[in-house]
Amino acid sequence: MGLHRAPHGLRARLSPPRRSDPALLSQTIDLIPLDAVDPVLVEALLDRAFPPGRQARTAYRVRGSVAPVASLCFAALAGDGTLAGSIQCWPTTLTDAQGSRWPMIMIGPVAVAPERQRDGIGRRLFLHMLATAERQGLDRAMMLIGDPEYYGRFFGFSAERTARWELPGPVERHRLLARGPDVPDRAGMLGPGDPGFTAQASIPTSN
Ligand SMILES: CC(C)(COP(=O)(O)OP(=O)(O)OC[C@H]1O[C@@H](n2cnc3c(N)ncnc32)[C@H](O)[C@@H]1OP(=O)(O)O)[C@@H](O)C(=O)NCCC(=O)NCCS
Repeated sequence: MGLHRAPHGLRARLSPPRRSDPALLSQTIDLIPLDAVDPVLVEALLDRAFPPGRQARTAYRVRGSVAPVASLCFAALAGDGTLAGSIQCWPTTLTDAQGSRWPMIMIGPVAVAPERQRDGIGRRLFLHMLATAERQGLDRAMMLIGDPEYYGRFFGFSAERTARWELPGPVERHRLLARGPDVPDRAGMLGPGDPGFTAQASIPTSN
């Protein structure tokens, strides 16, 4: 497995530390842009955090083949350079029956290496992403598919406005969550967003 040197000299390695390692919990965690990490290592982390077949999930169909919102994608690196977690965000759009498009940011996957879960890394990644989105004006309409017990409890996501959304695959309705004042509470089909999503693009547009 190749190594990738991040711009500031940190290195991400695939080999995870053992849970019995007493240094594990005391290690500092650095959050860095995800594009500084070898994508092969990120995919390997996702393979370890999720059950097999993750690429068939509806969330992957929603995002399509559009590039991620790079400014909202982060990696968590442990002090020894190990990749401990990652978060990715994608442009997505709800298109209603009139053809109006409602841009949103789709969050996910969020993943923490199994041996490091429940140590606050997921929350740090998510809160860092949210603070960055707020600074960039990208936090007004965000959505994800995930456990309300986690994303509601810690980050204020809810299914209140998502009941009439259609998706290109199966979804458990209570796990279709959103957050932000511009989340569209209307019927429509969810799909890939426009490349180069910007704050200005969060204003609904008509075809
Ligand atoms: C979900 C995940 C990102 C959370 O990150 P984490 O670093 O393990 O969690 P944190 O340390 O930030 O938060 C821990 C708290 O969240 C709770 N929690 C974690 N995952 C949860 C879930 N799926 N549902 C409900 N609560 C959850 C824990 O019980 C813990 O609560 P406590 O402090 O009261 O004990 C991580 O566990 C993970 O990668 N899981 C596998 C992949 C996945 O399911 N990703 C999310 C879907 S995109």
